[in-house]
Formats: sequence, C-alpha cells, structure tokens
Amino acid sequence: MKNRHWNRRDIIAASLAVGIAPSIALSADEIHMISKPIPGSGESLPVIGLGTYNVFDVESTPAQIEIRRQIVELLASSGGNLLDTSPMYNRSEKVIGDVIASGMDREKLFLATKVWTDGQSAGAKQMQRSAELMQTDVIDLMQVHNLRDTASHMETIRMWQDSDRIRYSGLTHYTAGAHAALGREMERFKPDFIQINYSLGEPEAENRLLPLASDLGIAVLINRPFQSGRLFRAVSGKQVPAWASEFAASWAQFFLKFIISHPAVTAVIPATSKTHHMIDNLGAGSGILPDTAMRKRMSDFFSSI
Ligand SMILES: NC(=O)c1ccc[n+]([C@@H]2O[C@H](COP(=O)([O-])OP(=O)(O)OC[C@H]3O[C@@H](n4cnc5c(N)ncnc54)[C@H](OP(=O)(O)O)[C@@H]3O)[C@@H](O)[C@H]2O)c1
Repeated sequence: MKNRHWNRRDIIAASLAVGIAPSIALSADEIHMISKPIPGSGESLPVIGLGTYNVFDVESTPAQIEIRRQIVELLASSGGNLLDTSPMYNRSEKVIGDVIASGMDREKLFLATKVWTDGQSAGAKQMQRSAELMQTDVIDLMQVHNLRDTASHMETIRMWQDSDRIRYSGLTHYTAGAHAALGREMERFKPDFIQINYSLGEPEAENRLLPLASDLGIAVLINRPFQSGRLFRAVSGKQVPAWASEFAASWAQFFLKFIISHPAVTAVIPATSKTHHMIDNLGAGSGILPDTAMRKRMSDFFSSI
C-alpha cells in the first residue's frame, strides 16, 4: 500500500473487499458527496469530514504519515475536504502539515483548528503556530476550543478574518452539560460555526442548540459522532436492521446518516486511523438520507437496545 494513490474506482474496489457498499444506488464512476451550504457565506461544505483527536497524534515516521496521507487522500478523492484538529491534540497539527508536505494539495482541504489557551497574546501566538505546523497561510476555520477565553480569542479571530488569515470563526464544546453556556455565547458572538456533540447516544443538541444555530444562521459541525467508539460497542454482535439497508450498509453509516440528516447539521467529523474505516465513513456521504419518520425509527430502535 506504500505511496498508494486512491481514485474512485479504488475506493469502490476497497469497499467491496471489506464488505462495505461504498455508496448504495450510485455507479462506480459517480460517488457524489452530499454538501450543505455554510449559512453565513453559501459556500458548500461536504457532509463527511475527518476528526484527528488521538488518531493523528503520532510520530512523523514515513509509515505513520503514509497511512494518514492515504486517509486524507480518500477523503479528498471522495469529494470531501474538512479536517478538524486542535493544538490540544498534541502532534496532530504537525501531522496534517506533514501530510500536506507529502504531496497532498492544500487547496483541496478545508482546515479547521482551534485555539485553546488563556489571554489574547497567547491565543494569537498559538494561532500563528497552528498555521506554521499545518504549513498554510490561511486557516479556513478557527474555533475557540471548549469556550476557553472566548471573548479574547474572538477578537483576534475577527481581526485575522479582516486580514484574510482566517476565513471562518467558531466555538466548540463536546458535552451536553456545556450546551447552555454555548447557547449564550452563540447569541453573544454570532460565530460562523459551532462544533458540538450530537449522536444517537447523545441527542441533547436537538433540544436547543441545533434549532438555535438554524435561527442564528450558524453552521454546525458534529464531533464525537460515535461517542468516541462507544456506539459500536452498544451494537456489538447486532446486525444493521433490514429496514435501514436502503441507506446504511454498516453501523458507521447508520450512525453518521442519523447525524447528517438533521437539517441544522452542516457536516460531521468522525475520527479514524484506518483506511477501511475512512472508506466506510465516506459511504455515509452519499445516497439516500433518512427522512423525519425514519430518523424517529432509528432513534427509537437505538433507545430499545
Ligand atoms: N471540544 C472539541 O472541540 C472536541 C471534542 C471531541 C472531539 N472533537 C473532534 O471530533 C472528532 C471526532 O470525535 P472523537 O475522535 O472523540 O470520536 P468519534 O469520531 O466519535 O470516534 C472515533 C472512534 O471510532 C472509531 N471508528 C471510526 N470509524 C469507524 C468505523 N467505520 N468502524 C468502526 N470504528 C470506527 C475510531 O477507531 P479507528 O481509528 O480504529 O477507526 C475511533 O476509536 C475528534 O477527532 C475531534 O476532531 C472536538
């Protein structure tokens, strides 16, 4: 697999080899990733991205970079572009930079990172360092990580947006316990994006944050779509129900399609360190999306197991 370059036919072949339909109802030449508009700009964002927490925190050996390069190339060759990282994820920003330096076209990527420190000066330094590590002049999305010193960093992010060094602003959190605080900060700062936890196992965002994001015209990225892997353990030994086979060929696709079919959700960022899991996850980016009645059925089913 060394220096392997993926094209769409390879993805189909690899998907079938691991027993996963890459995209139900699409022909081999036509994997088409669903995109949704970023409300503030109208720019299209493909619905499946890639998280890097833990999975990109590796030493930059040729073998480790090659695996990540293949994962990112799979994303890009399937029509995706969104990578999410943070200085909190140790070596992940550097690994993204190394993947780009290994020949990945930076222009094909939408790079989202975060600021995670106290004070405006320390925040600006950290943002500069993130750009250097990722080997990019412009960061597509800069998010305040876990609402840490939001006011200081939003001021810097706005200034950098004015000078075209950052394209979009964002606020993140990963627990339902922080949703009330995040809702208040959304109303106060009106960021371009929020990033929150939402899944079949953690549906709380449906109550307030997702409707609020729609009302305020804020794009929504979803983190922890598999509850960091816990959802797979919940369905261990069980088959995807037959009634879901029209839109989900695997549990990963079942979980991801539940998320991206919510009208307020813009994109989801599952993390993986494995090419076959990336292929599986990308399969959720095309084909049929569950409607409201089907989403209810999925939710009832998950609650019952
Ligand atoms: N506060 C914040 O801003 C915040 C907090 C949490 C997360 N995030 C972001 O959200 C991203 C996603 O959340 P997360 O990393 O916590 O967890 P996650 O995406 O819910 O789950 C990742 C886990 O699922 C496994 N996995 C992925 N695809 C799979 C598949 N198709 N089949 C079976 N297993 C699969 C991965 O293992 P393998 O490596 O074996 O595939 C990994 O252990 C993070 O990486 C990060 O970018 C942000």
